[in-house]
Amino acid sequence: MSALAISPLHRAARFWEAPIGKKAVMAITGLILFGYVIGHLLGNLQIYSADHQQINRYAAFLHNPANAIPLWVIRTALLAAVILHIVSAVQLWLQNRAARPLGYKKKADVPTSYAARTMRWSGVIVGAFIVFHILHLTVGSVLPVHEIAANEPDVRYNVITGFQNPLVAGFYILAMILLCMHLYHGLWSMFQSMGFSHPRYTPLLKKGAALVAILIAVGNISIPIAVLTGFLTL
Ligand code: HEM
Repeated sequence: MSALAISPLHRAARFWEAPIGKKAVMAITGLILFGYVIGHLLGNLQIYSADHQQINRYAAFLHNPANAIPLWVIRTALLAAVILHIVSAVQLWLQNRAARPLGYKKKADVPTSYAARTMRWSGVIVGAFIVFHILHLTVGSVLPVHEIAANEPDVRYNVITGFQNPLVAGFYILAMILLCMHLYHGLWSMFQSMGFSHPRYTPLLKKGAALVAILIAVGNISIPIAVLTGFLTL
């Protein structure tokens, strides 16, 4: 069959099968999830507003039945991004293992950061956190979710009472630290997979990735800490 006769579907399948295709899928889905994490953090920081109903109005807007279609389109896209991110990570790991059946003799031979070496289990724990988090604040099966009215969750009440439990707050803080490491290395390796390498800009990019990841972690962690220290109360 000539190269011209290869259908777009066939080409997409071949791209997906190649390690570079999987890395591209990881980078694109990682970027989508990263965008969500930033948007979600900006939404959550409204909890500090002097107007205590501000964050609840925002939640009521998201839950308004008139916005159901865009909400479910975004939720479906996010779920698809999570699934593709995990499937390509597992397949890349299996491909790497198959290509290196004996493993490295000495792991110390490979100069990698702590964040890079912990990518797999930071990913697994962040994944477990997301499941717990949705059960906690969206579904309400960890602690009952209060509503002001139908489709109007009392987010301020639910977040503050949730974080008054030190075990829940502690798990969130641990997950945010791991998310920070995962984002730092993920952002950084995305630039590497794209072939970006420059003696002057590469170290700057690395510092930029660290700064963004730390800002996201600090913003998120500030909320359980503010509740535990009594700065945020009902
Ligand atoms: C202290 C940190 C966080 C707080 C206070 C928080 C708060 C919330 C709240 C209140 C909801 C329910 C919103 C609603 O029903 O309207 C929610 C949903 C959600 N959160 Fe978070 N969140 C935090 C961190 C995170 C992080 C780091 C991630 C991702 C890594 C995340 C992912 C999600 C997802 C996927 C949902 C479900 C969204 C949906 O139902 O459409 N959250 N969060």
